[in-house]
Amino acid sequence: MTRRLENTSPIKVAGLNHWFGTGDARKQVIWDVNLSVTRGSLTVLMGPSGSGKTTVLTLMGCLREVHDGSVQLLGAELNGATEADAVALRRRLGFIFQAHNLHESLTASQNVLMGLEVHGRGDPAQQMRAAHHALELVGLADRLYYLPANLSGGQKQRVAVARALVSNPEIMFADEPTAALDKASGRTVVEILKSLGRERGTTTVMVTHDNRILELADRIVTLEDGRIVDDV
Ligand SMILES: Nc1ncnc2c1ncn2[C@@H]1O[C@H](COP(=O)(O)OP(=O)(O)OP(=O)(O)O)[C@@H](O)[C@H]1O
Ligand SMILES: [Mg+2]
Repeated sequence: MTRRLENTSPIKVAGLNHWFGTGDARKQVIWDVNLSVTRGSLTVLMGPSGSGKTTVLTLMGCLREVHDGSVQLLGAELNGATEADAVALRRRLGFIFQAHNLHESLTASQNVLMGLEVHGRGDPAQQMRAAHHALELVGLADRLYYLPANLSGGQKQRVAVARALVSNPEIMFADEPTAALDKASGRTVVEILKSLGRERGTTTVMVTHDNRILELADRIVTLEDGRIVDDV
């Protein structure tokens, strides 16, 4: 039964509230968010700047402590989870952020390898094959040994996508992964995430302001002032 629930809904959020600050500065920024995400789907979080998209994404992605309400991630409750539980869960997740955070002194391949080293598994030759395969998937087979300084913005973003997917995460969390890209490159990144959903059942939750890629979403959730105001 638990197994089935996990398969159908890798993320279940119920009655989620969140505050920032302490004392007089304490301010509620997330109000009663409820959301159940289907395995293998692509969910887009939209909304004005400051509406709480990144806060909700980081709460769901186990990057921020859940204080009030429930977030069930891959069957585990995050509210009250220990740091050890959180670390184990994060190993099953992938993250892509707008600031791609590539190491400037490492080649594309080495940057992607970093995505495996934090997971600490596999032998080196196998890891290298996996890194090259991930770079092939994002269309960078001919840029394996380039340094970030010699790649375009879109190519760097795709290296960051390869780094996130090389460990075969069950859920991919992405915060404005296409913001720095032109329409075609942005679409490519989202299409890669969609194909992961079809082929591996990877679930993606993505924050975007980019109207041009909304047509690729299975579901669009809109936040305003920390509340879900639309869910289609
Ligand atoms: N670390 C923090 N401390 C205090 N307030 C914060 C913190 N992080 C975010 N906030 C506040 O919480 C609210 C939601 O911020 P959040 O970053 O989630 O918005 P967002 O929808 O991602 O916006 P953007 O589109 O600009 O990235 C904002 O009012 C913001 O000022
Ligand atoms: Mg944000």
